[in-house]
Amino acid sequence: MTFADRDPRIGEVLLTPDRIAARIGEMGAEITEDYRDRPPLLVCVLKGAYVFLTDLARRIDLSVDIDFIAVSSYGNSTRTSGVVRLIKDLDVDIADRHVLLVEDIVDSGLTLRYLRRNLQARGPASLSVATFLARSSADLGALDVRYVGFTIPDEAWVVGYGLDHAQELRNLPYVARYARP
Ligand code: IMP
Ligand code: MG
Repeated sequence: MTFADRDPRIGEVLLTPDRIAARIGEMGAEITEDYRDRPPLLVCVLKGAYVFLTDLARRIDLSVDIDFIAVSSYGNSTRTSGVVRLIKDLDVDIADRHVLLVEDIVDSGLTLRYLRRNLQARGPASLSVATFLARSSADLGALDVRYVGFTIPDEAWVVGYGLDHAQELRNLPYVARYARP
């Protein structure tokens, strides 16, 4: 029995490891094609995107650079605080670089709008976004999200594959619903 089998708050599995791997293969192929002449700098938004980044990067058939940025908008609650804080900045200068921002999930879009404004001000040659998940209500057009792995129901809080509840369950190899306390 795994620890997940013993935690009754972990619900329906929405995305299995096989399904995730297949979709990330498709995303990697698309990114490889789009960036063939301008190898990207992948910017991983910590912590949630760390699993997605490692799998996605290995499905991109180009030499890529990788850097990390950390923001917080939720604290330990499952409700947004409405405030985005920069916790860890990039190590590298992104001026004139082709930046691909790698996110775990686009929910209200608050985090993404903050990061976009912050990074755009540094003068990258281009700035695009790849997100593992998006809620069905997220306005991906307005947020200009180029690559989306999966869309999930608005009301579902999900855990696994990098996504947490109060910093736990990020290491589940699948995405499951989580019963909010
Ligand atoms: P936004 O700023 O409202 O778009 O929220 C984005 C951030 O909220 C993501 O990067 C996640 O860290 C977090 N988040 C939103 N929904 C979930 C969820 O269902 N599970 C875990 N984290 C989530
Ligand atoms: Mg996050």
